[in-house]
Amino acid sequence: MKKLLATLSLSAIIFTVACNDTEEGKDSSNTSDSTSSTTSSKPTDNALALLQSNCFNCHNPDKEAAVRVAPTMADIKTAYKADELTGSEFAHKMIAFINNPTEENSHMPEAVKQYGMMPKLNYKEEQLEAMAAYIYKNDIGSDEWYIQWKATKDQPAGTNTADMSYEDLGLSIANRTKAQLGKNLMGALKKHGAPGAVTFCNTRAIPLTDSMAKVLHAGVKRVSDQPRNPNNQANEAEIAYIKELKEKIAKGEPLTPKIIEAEDKVTGYYAIETNKMCIQCHGNKNTDILPETYANIHKAYPADKATGYGEKQIRGIWVITMDKK
Ligand code: HEC
Ligand code: HEC
Repeated sequence: MKKLLATLSLSAIIFTVACNDTEEGKDSSNTSDSTSSTTSSKPTDNALALLQSNCFNCHNPDKEAAVRVAPTMADIKTAYKADELTGSEFAHKMIAFINNPTEENSHMPEAVKQYGMMPKLNYKEEQLEAMAAYIYKNDIGSDEWYIQWKATKDQPAGTNTADMSYEDLGLSIANRTKAQLGKNLMGALKKHGAPGAVTFCNTRAIPLTDSMAKVLHAGVKRVSDQPRNPNNQANEAEIAYIKELKEKIAKGEPLTPKIIEAEDKVTGYYAIETNKMCIQCHGNKNTDILPETYANIHKAYPADKATGYGEKQIRGIWVITMDKK
């Protein structure tokens, strides 16, 4: 619990810094961000800030971290044999996995066994390129990098939200909430197994989403057309979008977000897809979900509709509501 609060307040710090930082590129000097000169110089693209708020919650570089839910980026770099690759080969290899985290695309089968498969997160190509370039260029396993990171991790370069489109802002809010929720879920799975992790989802999913909403100054909801928790029931407009997404998946089309502008609010819808990890709680009742897990699910959610999913299906959507700028 203490750990959870610590992580949340870290995000709070990141965001506070982000919100107050309106000057372009203001902080980039103290982040050793070697990518800013080769990619766009917009602070929204700042690679270290992106890694910090989207990846390091799970891929914690802290060597003394009490709970580890994913390998460090330095371990990944070694497993990917980065030193034998050019920067663009490395980026290509890494991005291919992130865009489609499956066993076939994994180069770290041991990590998948130890931690479970990384959940799918949706990033823009240029953001992924910037993050990959940062990892490639910086010696992120070295004591030097680590000491510098420890000293500056609470003050990353500004993510200038004022410059972001609503679509990108909503995506960043959804991704950060997802990363935080995913980190805690993976930790609970590792510690208690699927039957025990049901309790985590049951008691923590909504409060965690709510506190991220507070930190990120936005409305954050996870809804489904087949909800487990009836409070997560999608409304008519949301169901219509979920239907669109399912049709897109069937046709192999990209799952583009939807933005709806009202008078003083903007709402963004973003797809939530299943992967292998989800199936142990959302798959077939008789074959994928352990009887013990299902018993816990059924006890907490007698009206559960969230089973029968396979991998790469639409489990629901993020609904992010932002104030108009
Ligand atoms: C919710 C937790 C979580 C978040 C957030 C997360 N990861 Fe991961 N990631 C994992 C886990 C667990 C593994 C190890 C299992 C695996 O390889 O899938 C992993 C593995 C990886 C791998 C190696 C994959 C392989 O098997 O070849 C790469 C590359 C990676 N992550 C990059 C990233 C980047 C970049 C970000 C941020 C944009 C990120 N991850 C965010 C949990 C996470
Ligand atoms: C340990 C079991 C477990 C795992 C693993 C799990 N979930 Fe869930 N999921 C739950 C429970 C329990 C709820 C209800 C949470 C609540 O009360 O808000 C839930 C709720 C949800 C919701 C909100 C809508 C609803 O049905 O209430 C979404 C969306 C969702 N899960 C997606 C996923 C995805 C995607 C994955 C894999 C990346 C996943 N879940 C993995 C147990 C799990």
